[in-house]
Amino acid sequence: MLEIKNLHARVADEGTEILRGVDLTVNDGEIAAIMGPNGSGKSTLSYILAGREDYEVTEGDILYNGESILEMEPDERAASGLFLAFQYPLEIPGVATMTFLKTALNAQRKARDEDELTTPEFMRRVKAAAGDLKINPEMLKRPLNVGFSGGEKKRAEILQMALLEPKLCVMDETDSGLDIDALKIVADGVNALRSPERSFLVITHYQRLLDYIVPDTVHVLSNGRIVKTGDKDLALQLEREGYSQIIEEAA
Ligand SMILES: Nc1ncnc2c1ncn2[C@@H]1O[C@H](COP(=O)(O)OP(=O)(O)OP(=O)(O)O)[C@@H](O)[C@H]1O
Ligand SMILES: [Mg+2]
Repeated sequence: MLEIKNLHARVADEGTEILRGVDLTVNDGEIAAIMGPNGSGKSTLSYILAGREDYEVTEGDILYNGESILEMEPDERAASGLFLAFQYPLEIPGVATMTFLKTALNAQRKARDEDELTTPEFMRRVKAAAGDLKINPEMLKRPLNVGFSGGEKKRAEILQMALLEPKLCVMDETDSGLDIDALKIVADGVNALRSPERSFLVITHYQRLLDYIVPDTVHVLSNGRIVKTGDKDLALQLEREGYSQIIEEAA
């Protein structure tokens, strides 16, 4: 599904190198977790996957189903099934959440040569997905993310994900700011989307999320490189011991 090879990247306008040779493979159907200290480059990696222009890849490649995505525009990446749930979801004043969702979904369908959904069919899908995530339908009339609480924004991200049915879901700290019940709801939402054809890259600081979304692999990113890879037990070890030993061993 995803192969990141020796990826080096820097901030486009000032040149600071942030990723310094990331190697990471995520297989079809796999849930890979990325953990790592603040500032290690986790969000940067997710932005680069999504195609944000503020970062420049200087070396290496990102293959998605065997093809490089580096030259693809963000909307092409999305249409090909890549989805990023942001650590800090963007507010879109003036656009009702419902309208945003419909536009996003139909734009992707169009890019895939599928017919637009009829309004009743779209409404049926949104209501079902919002119900599963315990999102109040009234919220969908409000502009996307504007004035949403932290946890409501995260749920709105998962709602988008459920509707767009991406192939590769990158979730950047989707658990931060969620109350205990919401964490469970969001995890259930993710688990419901689990399939042999869909992969997840879950960025988190807390092992707790991984009790609910059990990962196949856990990777530690430190200073722009993956310094350790293991299974779910690695997350438990990190919770007990912190990062210092693993980072020292890798140095
Ligand atoms: N546009 C930018 N200009 C300057 N520095 C940047 C920029 N974007 C990222 N960085 C720096 O790159 C490093 C990695 O940032 P990033 O947001 O990827 O970390 P992170 O691993 O997601 O951290 P956290 O766990 O706190 O979310 C940080 O030191 C950050 O200050
Ligand atoms: Mg981050």
